[in-house]
Amino acid sequence: MDVFSTLKSKLSSGNATIGIIGLGYVGLPLAHALHEGGFRILGFDIDPSKIEALAVGRNYLKHLGEEMTTTLSRSDRFRATADFSRLSEADAIIICVPTPLGKHQEPDLSYVINSGRDIGRTLRRGQLVVLESTTYPGTTREDLLPAMLEAQPKGAEKLVSGKDFFVAFSPEREDPGRKSHNTKTTPKLVGGLERESGELASLMYARAIQHVVTVSTAEVAEAAKVLENTFRAVNIALVNELKMILTPMGIDVWDVIEAAATKPFGFMPFFPGPGLGGHCIPIDPFYLTWKAREVGKPTRFIELAGEINTSMPHYVVDRLAAALNDESKSVKGSKVLIVGLAYKPNIDDTRETPAAEIIEILAGLGADVSYHDPHVPTFPRMRKHTRDLKSIDLSKDVLTAFDAVLIVTDHAAVNWRAIAQHAKLVVDTRNAMKGLGGLGARVVKA
Ligand SMILES: NC(=O)c1ccc[n+]([C@@H]2O[C@H](COP(=O)([O-])OP(=O)(O)OC[C@H]3O[C@@H](n4cnc5c(N)ncnc54)[C@H](O)[C@@H]3O)[C@@H](O)[C@H]2O)c1
Repeated sequence: MDVFSTLKSKLSSGNATIGIIGLGYVGLPLAHALHEGGFRILGFDIDPSKIEALAVGRNYLKHLGEEMTTTLSRSDRFRATADFSRLSEADAIIICVPTPLGKHQEPDLSYVINSGRDIGRTLRRGQLVVLESTTYPGTTREDLLPAMLEAQPKGAEKLVSGKDFFVAFSPEREDPGRKSHNTKTTPKLVGGLERESGELASLMYARAIQHVVTVSTAEVAEAAKVLENTFRAVNIALVNELKMILTPMGIDVWDVIEAAATKPFGFMPFFPGPGLGGHCIPIDPFYLTWKAREVGKPTRFIELAGEINTSMPHYVVDRLAAALNDESKSVKGSKVLIVGLAYKPNIDDTRETPAAEIIEILAGLGADVSYHDPHVPTFPRMRKHTRDLKSIDLSKDVLTAFDAVLIVTDHAAVNWRAIAQHAKLVVDTRNAMKGLGGLGARVVKA
């Protein structure tokens, strides 16, 4: 049998080893889903604490639940390792490493390139490589493939992509904390550098994911992912702008969105907030902005959405300052309690959280800032956040001691009724006080 047919039969029967590079928010649930699909899984990470945790079944991503790590660590079809020479054991290798922005908002592909080099060092005939990290269109062909080929040891046999080995892109659509969809039930886009690569990657995913959509090229799959995240960033900016227009008119933007959402077609509700957070929406659109320069085109929607969304923490603080002013108080010297530190509800992820910037602005103005988040017990200092903080528990006495409560994230586990009853002033960026008006607190939306 030729290389393609051999790999095809291995992947479609489940009798194959899948290497997963990067065992974080994306790689770990993917490892679990492919393990359930019957494959042997070899997980790779440069973080030794993750390898150790998986060896003993300790869960390091709370929102995924205990079952995932327990199942993997007990299985003889799963191993996690930092020994990258073992990449040669894998029939297919999936890359799930970070793709952040650099200092000047430029794509930082160093993690992807490093993984490409790791793979290249042991690349052998009959392997499939799939990139899942979010990136600009062209990365798989123009950046990943050359990194792999250049890392091949001197004197190694020259292998040809699409003939001897196969390369594809499949965007990750994971949405941590979402209950309605998971890795298995979210349709998976796949595009190969060549038709054969797309076909092989699709066969692999089809064993673990209910609906696999094969598109014509890796570039289509890469661009589709950037479109999805840009679509969110632009629409969130639109409702944030609408909020700033409607508020001085005395119109509640949340009521307006709810009203518009009764239209069964041609409208999709997006909700305003205190600013973007997380590893994806604030970052991914700027990968396209960077790539667009290559063809001499501006990305005006992306830039404008970025401008509006990044101004939100300042808008929120201005609303808080005005609300305190109504009570003859200044921000300076006021005690402010931030509720919800994670960037979105019901998870513990604080990457790029707007709460960090809000805390910095308020502290800079002289406020005494504390926070409550049932999912984030401590918030140590980081690059953009300069103080060590600890979550405080809510009680009637605690709530009455603060001049204002500022709601940044609406976790289901927060006692919203207690806040509505006992806080003096609530500045609400999430409509968390809906239906709780008139219980005691003065509520101002922001
Ligand atoms: N988190 C999400 O919700 C989400 C959703 C869709 C897409 N994505 C994309 O998926 C990719 C991964 O994101 P994530 O949230 O899983 O990141 P993460 O930081 O949770 O996990 C990445 C893992 O890769 C490891 N790593 C880094 N360099 C490595 C290397 N050279 N070799 C092996 N391991 C390495 C890190 O130690 C870490 O464990 C990014 O491109 C991100 O944009 C993330």
